[in-house]
Amino acid sequence: MAIINYFSTLIPPLPYALPPAVAKHPGPFLACASSLWGFYLNLQGRRAHEIVKAHQRYGRVVRVAPNLLSFSNPQAVREIYMNPNFTKSSRFYIAKHIFNEDMLLTFRDPHRHRQRRKLLSRGFSQAALVEFEPQIADKINLLLRHWGRLAQENNPIDVYPWAHMLGFDIIYHLMFGIDPQSVKTGKESKVMPWLRAWRPTFNYKEMVPPLGQYGPYIPGRVGSYFRLVQKWKNYAMDIVRDCRETGTKTPFLSRVLGGVDESLGRPLTDSELAEECMGGMFGGSGTTANTFVYALWGIIRDASIVNRLREELDEAFPDPDIVPDSVTCAQLPFLNAVLSETLRRYPTITGLLPREAQEDVIVDGICIPKGANVATGNLTVHLDETSFPDPLTFNPDRWLASDAPRDALVPFSVGARKCIGMNLAELELRVWLAAFFKRFDARLDKSMTENDMDIYDSFSASPRGGRLLVWLEKRRR
Ligand code: HEM
Repeated sequence: MAIINYFSTLIPPLPYALPPAVAKHPGPFLACASSLWGFYLNLQGRRAHEIVKAHQRYGRVVRVAPNLLSFSNPQAVREIYMNPNFTKSSRFYIAKHIFNEDMLLTFRDPHRHRQRRKLLSRGFSQAALVEFEPQIADKINLLLRHWGRLAQENNPIDVYPWAHMLGFDIIYHLMFGIDPQSVKTGKESKVMPWLRAWRPTFNYKEMVPPLGQYGPYIPGRVGSYFRLVQKWKNYAMDIVRDCRETGTKTPFLSRVLGGVDESLGRPLTDSELAEECMGGMFGGSGTTANTFVYALWGIIRDASIVNRLREELDEAFPDPDIVPDSVTCAQLPFLNAVLSETLRRYPTITGLLPREAQEDVIVDGICIPKGANVATGNLTVHLDETSFPDPLTFNPDRWLASDAPRDALVPFSVGARKCIGMNLAELELRVWLAAFFKRFDARLDKSMTENDMDIYDSFSASPRGGRLLVWLEKRRR
């Protein structure tokens, strides 16, 4: 019986079993027939690209799984993600559980989510970031000094692993008050491979939900991802216990360690808190690191963009070796245009964020019946020609026009479930890019190809080649 139930979730039993309002919409034949289409493309990191193509072929509303409609109109983003009648789709978000616990990203119940967010948001508030900014600046400075030294060895530098080490060090230090020193030592923390192992597990769990329970017991490569996540969980439990014992007072932990989650009526257990921290480590490191890597890729290839950025930075910060401050950076129009364009062209949460209707709801003029699933994906919305003419071109100027389509730029999502780390990510990226372009002349290594930088989409996105080789030279003035 369990097996029949499982297969009926992959292939709808009969067309009339689906809400007709969903089934009448066009989509790729295999997508309409079975969820396996999406799972297969997830494994290849190609689902978001195929959905972009499906919209180009079928229009604004496309059926991308038996019971899932994708919308490309930016208006639909607000209609879905700001409407309390939609909740996160169960199968997709249960698969995003890290181990056993519900956490901020995965809650479906709005009340439970609101209470948890209240408890965690202090750690990512403006006040916390102001307090933490000197640590961020020190780490960026250390990284750029390393790159300055490596540049003299007459080899290209692969900035990809370094960017990930910096992203990890920042979020880890912010949460636990401890610097893991990956950047300082030039060696990634032992936690980073465990964290990377999580991404494949949620694809497998979405395909085969019982893997959430039995994954670590599966032999071979697939099981090994689950075992690494198990190690990561044990490690996170140990840090949480240490932090309790030592009374760690970071803005992230000080409220959470003692504070009560009102929906539970008690403080979080070690296990719950460990999984929140793991969610933060994952959400806070790779996304920012990959955005930085894509920003370099977008900027360095166009000398006029580099020159205009330099001009603005040199005027704002005359000292060549400074790590600029975030408040001034936030006011620089071209730097911000470059960042917006990076987040548009290379959104690091690329894929669909599915929501289930709890009532009949109208989206983009269409009635979505209770029980139906809908979504938008950032790659689809950001590459839509009606909002962004010539969408594949990296063009920061589109953000300088007074009528720039700001509502169509949604890399952090919108509404109650939008990214909790948005301010931190933007702060890091502005300061890091400003410091980098003040200090270095950069050119791409000839071996870099478009294919290396193709977006590998697996909920979060990264360059398919997993590298970005650049030649750096200290700027001469
Ligand atoms: C460029 C960097 C980033 C991008 C593009 C990004 C994007 C997003 C998006 C699109 C969502 C909504 C996901 C959904 O609806 O399922 C989200 C949620 C979230 N992000 Fe980020 N993020 C970034 C950086 C960060 C950072 C630095 C943190 C720090 C911990 C973080 C932690 C989270 C968490 C915990 C959630 C769940 C929020 C909730 O449901 O209340 N992210 N992010």
